[in-house]
Amino acid sequence: MLKVAIFLLSLTPAGWLAWLTLNDQLGANPVEMLTHQSGLWALRLLLITLAITPLCTLSGWHAPRRLRRMLGLYAFFYALLHLLIYLILDRGLYFADIWEDIIERPYITVGFATFLLLLPLAITSNNYMMKRMGRAWKTLHQLVYLCGLGGVLHYMWLVKADLLNPGGYLFIFLLLMLLRFKPFTTLIRRR
Ligand code: HEM
Repeated sequence: MLKVAIFLLSLTPAGWLAWLTLNDQLGANPVEMLTHQSGLWALRLLLITLAITPLCTLSGWHAPRRLRRMLGLYAFFYALLHLLIYLILDRGLYFADIWEDIIERPYITVGFATFLLLLPLAITSNNYMMKRMGRAWKTLHQLVYLCGLGGVLHYMWLVKADLLNPGGYLFIFLLLMLLRFKPFTTLIRRR
């Protein structure tokens, strides 16, 4: 039941964006709106995925652990949507421009690198690959921390003036990393 609810909830932003698109409600700059919202949801879902383990450790409630794979795949889904919007709607599949962006705009370089790191995680997220890869699976999936950092850096880099929002995401990311350290969680649980 919890899994179905989270599945539907994670799909809501995509449904909302589809509704806005179909009803011509995306505002003055539809491509910008779609790029921003898909990017934000990719990052939010990535951070939510990273939050599950520390929250389960702290609360002692372990049921949400089962949701990690699905939430991670949703983060990938929104990142893919974000990439496709950029490639098709923003850059019109004009690869010379896209290549120039990757080389000359550091936030695009970081965005692409983050997406490339997410890709093997999504591909190997099924039970078959998990069994086949054995211990290497766990090592590979540690890349998720780097993806979180990459997503936050990409956001910080593209915002030139008002760093409050990306700064908030950076703070959450760092807090989640801190909450993975046993001495820190032990200290919190004692209180
Ligand atoms: C796949 C390669 C990627 C490309 C080409 C890309 C490109 C872009 C572009 C063009 C923007 C808008 C920049 C502007 O407003 O001037 C943007 C914003 C953003 N992207 Fe990406 N991105 C990529 C990957 C990612 C990934 C993997 C994440 C998260 C995990 C992400 C999260 C964001 C966020 C949070 C924003 C800001 C949204 C806002 O301003 O409200 N992006 N990206």
